[in-house]
Amino acid sequence: MKKALNSNIAKQSKAPLFDILLDHAKRNVTSFHCPGHKNGRSIDENLKNYVGEEVFKFDVTVFNEVDSLHDPVGPIKKAQELMSEAYGVKHSLFLVNGTSVGNMAMFLSACDSGDSIIVSRSSHKSIMAGIVMSGVWPIWIQPKVDQNLDLIFSVTYDQIKEALDKYPESKAVFVTSPTYNGVVTNLRKIVDLCHKRGKIVLVDEAHGAHLHFNDNLPESAVDVGADLCVQSTHKILSAMSQGSVLHFNSKLIDINRVKKIVSMLQTTSPNYLTLASLDLARRQVFLHGKESFDKVIKAARWGRMYVNNNIPSMRCFTRKEMQNLGFNLDETKLTVNVTKTGLSGNEIEEILAKEYNVQLDYADLFNLVAIMGEGSTKEDVEIFVRALESINKNYHGKQKNWVLKIPSLATEMVMRPREVFLSNNTKKVSLKKAVGHVAAQTLTPYPPGIPVLIPGERITKEICDYLIEMSSKDIRISGQETEKLRMVKVFTN
Ligand SMILES: Cc1ncc(COP(=O)(O)O)c(C=O)c1O
Repeated sequence: MKKALNSNIAKQSKAPLFDILLDHAKRNVTSFHCPGHKNGRSIDENLKNYVGEEVFKFDVTVFNEVDSLHDPVGPIKKAQELMSEAYGVKHSLFLVNGTSVGNMAMFLSACDSGDSIIVSRSSHKSIMAGIVMSGVWPIWIQPKVDQNLDLIFSVTYDQIKEALDKYPESKAVFVTSPTYNGVVTNLRKIVDLCHKRGKIVLVDEAHGAHLHFNDNLPESAVDVGADLCVQSTHKILSAMSQGSVLHFNSKLIDINRVKKIVSMLQTTSPNYLTLASLDLARRQVFLHGKESFDKVIKAARWGRMYVNNNIPSMRCFTRKEMQNLGFNLDETKLTVNVTKTGLSGNEIEEILAKEYNVQLDYADLFNLVAIMGEGSTKEDVEIFVRALESINKNYHGKQKNWVLKIPSLATEMVMRPREVFLSNNTKKVSLKKAVGHVAAQTLTPYPPGIPVLIPGERITKEICDYLIEMSSKDIRISGQETEKLRMVKVFTN
């Protein structure tokens, strides 16, 4: 465990929110509150027969006994305090709409309308909502690509420094680390640099809620003093889907502003099972994170070596390789490069699901990404790699010449994304005639899944030519409204 020692085991063995809900559920209270199923009574029988009825007794609404997420004074407050102690931060706020809502909250908390913020072009789609809602000027960093590994990296210290030198007026820096593939950037150096220059650091650590609890994993944003950091507790730890946490550790941001914004963005009917699962996930990882993740890391290492030694057409990069490239790696994420099979990652993902009953979290043309979590076992990894071995023997695709490339398409932001997004002054023009206009929509070819155009950006000839070429090759362009991309939405003054 890294910095969590300032909380003690006796205290962390408690789960105040879960305990209150369990006590409430056992009393079989006559319900005259929402939701309408009344302790599960009217839940569809097919569902109830499978999952049982008791679970629905946790599905309550806000009343004094169970506390309010929006103004917590009882068990939710206690559970959030235990969370912040476990992670060694000043405050932790529970989220019931995942890290997506946390990302929006970070933008709105750190920046005022008109501020500028440095942000990677490869960030999760929820940051566009944060950019639009907050009215900031994004300063984009183009992430680096490794064409041997077919991988997009997180932003580096050098890229952030260069951006800060060029745009000293920026208020904040937004970093995603780890990436979907578990690649971690040098956050400690980035935070030190930013704080020396009075800049706020926001970290999307959706995939890193476990990092703080095991010394064999890279450092977490909470360990290096990021001002705000959001984690999907549901992704790697044992919280239910949508359960995330926003950690606050800042001298530069007002916590009351953060609380107000988080409250503004969240439902007034949070799912209490999700909230209780955050409480329990924290207890579990605090008490057992060291040994459970030691096991997961060991299993992942075994799987990685198995693929590298036994499956000639597939390859997993290692932590050492990442370190040689200046990054670190959360080894619990298994990225398997499949380009030598002649099949796409998406095709293999489908085969794994249909033929082998193995479901992955993500695949693209080049890679499979197997995400392991607190519940993963060595047996799971064995099933996975034996399936890959069998696919290697039984399926033979034609070698493809796909290359992961991010086009170097320079353009300027002439309007803030928010102004364009909220404007009715838009029209569609043919892509061929769009040069010189200001884009009013986002267009993202897959791969590489990085936007080529964002609302507010000037459309150049190179961008038009690139999009026309992509479309002619049947590359999917997220944002296109017709079968082929012919028109683009632009701003009209
Ligand atoms: C890097 C990153 N950030 C944010 C999110 C959104 O997280 P959530 O699903 O918890 O809303 C994801 C989801 O996959 C993600 O990969």
